[in-house]
Amino acid sequence: MAKTSKIKRIGILTGGGDCPGLNAVIRGVTKPAQDFGMSVLGILDGFEGLVEGRAKELANADVSGILARGGTILGSSNKGDPFHWPELKDDNTIEIVDRSNSALKNYLAWNLDALIAIGGDGTMHICKKLGEMGMNMVGVPKTIDNDLEATDLTFGHDSAVYVVAEALDRLHTTASSHHRVIVVEVMGRYAGWIALNGGLAGGADIILIPEIPFSWEKVYEKILKRELMGKKFSLVCVSEGARSIDGQMIVKGSDIKRHDPTQLGGIGEVVARRIEENTQRETRVTVLGHVQRGGSPTPFDRILSTKFGYFAIDLAARKKFGRMVALKGNEIKNVLIEDAISHQKLVKLDNQNVIAAKGVGISFGE
Ligand code: F6P
Repeated sequence: MAKTSKIKRIGILTGGGDCPGLNAVIRGVTKPAQDFGMSVLGILDGFEGLVEGRAKELANADVSGILARGGTILGSSNKGDPFHWPELKDDNTIEIVDRSNSALKNYLAWNLDALIAIGGDGTMHICKKLGEMGMNMVGVPKTIDNDLEATDLTFGHDSAVYVVAEALDRLHTTASSHHRVIVVEVMGRYAGWIALNGGLAGGADIILIPEIPFSWEKVYEKILKRELMGKKFSLVCVSEGARSIDGQMIVKGSDIKRHDPTQLGGIGEVVARRIEENTQRETRVTVLGHVQRGGSPTPFDRILSTKFGYFAIDLAARKKFGRMVALKGNEIKNVLIEDAISHQKLVKLDNQNVIAAKGVGISFGE
């Protein structure tokens, strides 16, 4: 039976850094739309398209065959915050201005009854503010970092963990053949979920995450202890945001066009150099970078994204605005967007994955 609703037209956009599963969400929203009596407008390049008025209609045929495709058919941007808009001046300087009125103008001009925004922490902050301006917002939690509160998981994280685990599997064989230490730098700005879960799945010997500042001595000690046990190689999985007890996060650059201007990267190289200097063991470094964000979603992420998409349009149909779909246990629930951004979801020391990792002998450099 057709599900009708007074909500007739919804917009959808993908904000922030891309990740596997975005297309599966777009499909999960668009395919059932007809049943809900709705048309779907795909807004291009995240909030940039909302401010600049760039969008295209999405019909069933447009989302056919995209379930397993990485990236986003709509394009994304992490520089299009309407409240923090980088405007290029005549003298080539950039001024940060508020363009939220243009966003509202386009929302009204497109006759949208609701807007589904798929994104992470930054996107949800923007959603909350657009909601306060009168837009009917529904959020879908995305980020490989998994640092969004009020949902057990964000989609994209499982796919990133899969990439890290596979890389560690491959590095295991070469590290053991050459009796080397290999340091793998993974994404994760302020939250260490990717390093923790990827490292656990890939059998890393040392996991370094932002939440647990590490001691250099403990890192060297673990590598040398393994040698005494006959293990002449070690794998270190380090978050880009990790730091030693006496050190700082390694910052690669800064981009004022972004809400969080800090660009991280380089800790892998620092850790590798220090290990080599202090243990005299040959050490190599692999930086996984955007490989973790690209490519096809895992089956888990395809299912989660499809469910998030379907329940997001269902939420819009029921006029539950200002809310975000969320995974709680095995069920899709919905939560207030402000609860999702109340604080960042960081790894806690009593997390069972941390406990189990320590139990099987993985060191966190403590
Ligand atoms: O927030 C997701 C994330 O993948 C972070 O882990 C990483 O620091 C950042 O995006 C990289 O962003 P960019 O694509 O702009 O380099």
